[in-house]
Amino acid sequence: MRKRLSLIAGIAAVGLVLTGCSSSGGDDEKASDKNQVEVFTWWASGSEKVGLDALTAEFAKQFPDIEFINAAVAGGAGSNAKAALASRLEADNPPDSFQAHAGAELSDYIAADQVQDLSSFYTDQGLDKAFPADLIERLTVDGKIYSVPSNIHRANVTWVNTEVLKKAGIDPEKAPADIDAWLVDLKKLKDSGVETPLALGTEWTQMQLFENVLIANLGAEGYSGLWDGTTKWDSDGVKKSVDQYSQLLGYANSDFAGLDWDAATQIVIDGNAGYNVMGDWAEAAFTQASQTYGTEYTTWATPGTEGIFDFLADSFTLPVGAPHETAAKDWLTTVSSAEGQKAFNLAKGSIPARTDADPADYPAYQQTAMKSFKEDTVVSSLAHGAAAPVAWSTDISSAVGKFGTDTNQDSLVTALVAAADKALG
Ligand code: GAL
Repeated sequence: MRKRLSLIAGIAAVGLVLTGCSSSGGDDEKASDKNQVEVFTWWASGSEKVGLDALTAEFAKQFPDIEFINAAVAGGAGSNAKAALASRLEADNPPDSFQAHAGAELSDYIAADQVQDLSSFYTDQGLDKAFPADLIERLTVDGKIYSVPSNIHRANVTWVNTEVLKKAGIDPEKAPADIDAWLVDLKKLKDSGVETPLALGTEWTQMQLFENVLIANLGAEGYSGLWDGTTKWDSDGVKKSVDQYSQLLGYANSDFAGLDWDAATQIVIDGNAGYNVMGDWAEAAFTQASQTYGTEYTTWATPGTEGIFDFLADSFTLPVGAPHETAAKDWLTTVSSAEGQKAFNLAKGSIPARTDADPADYPAYQQTAMKSFKEDTVVSSLAHGAAAPVAWSTDISSAVGKFGTDTNQDSLVTALVAAADKALG
């Protein structure tokens, strides 16, 4: 039905193109490009672009008459894209759909009236039944849903080069019990001559590593309490995390500040580091480098976070004032379809948000993520917009980034407390 509607829209648009040729009217010009959809993401290159391409290929299959305009802005975790998007929204020049993280980050766009309510789209398409209830809950603000998730990523994953560990006499299959035990192995690796035991990248990857350490020490409840003020940012657990994080930095590559996530993960793929803490978009990088799970690399929940799934979801919106609203809804249809989610997630390393996916269709790593998401305690990722609004996570990110150069633990705790006070009032 949707395909047919969009075909009719396509034919209508062709007619308008012809009309537009002989007319100088602004309306006709606008109508002439009706049959396209401009989609804004940060999946501009490498394995992330491969993921987006898989999704757009499925879109082309479902809606062959709509031209896909790729408005991706490079930079992991939206490090450049979010500012570029903000300028476009500010200038009333929204794309037809943009990528945003489900959870707190989305509430910024909702509060600013920049995204449309998609609740009736959910009912029309049966999405209220296709996605798990707790995900729907995370997407719902004041009874309304404003975005369509394309996937679920896990952010507390440690990627391990098995050979590098074996050479140092460390069993790669055995995850250390906690961060302290992991620090012992990192030292062992360093002492065996591995210059960079832990691969690390730019500021947001540092914040993600810090987030993992916080979860390891505070547990699911304590970590979640950071976002509503029930866990204090100068508590012993946070201070211990800052100290351990500082020790972890001592095992990282010295050029970390200048590397995006893919360059940091590549150090492990190349066998020049033992570990990298990264969301499971790294799975796409490993498989696209022809690495075999369980042989050349393996993964565990970051030490101390076993039994916890640090959650984030990429989701797509319908901005207020989207120039091609019908085509944008068609895009959202593909994003939410079983076929779209399968094509995308197989390439992206993430797992489908839909409950009707069959784990047997997915490779070994994703099967572990599917099991964990189903059985473990789910917490919200800080570095990927699920836990805190943009302003708060930006403050934390700056504080963690500064710590990367001054390593002053007291200053970091002070800055974290100040950021929480500002955010929570
Ligand atoms: C996350 C995003 C992922 C992946 C990652 C690295 O924020 O949700 O899909 O793209 O950034 O860029």
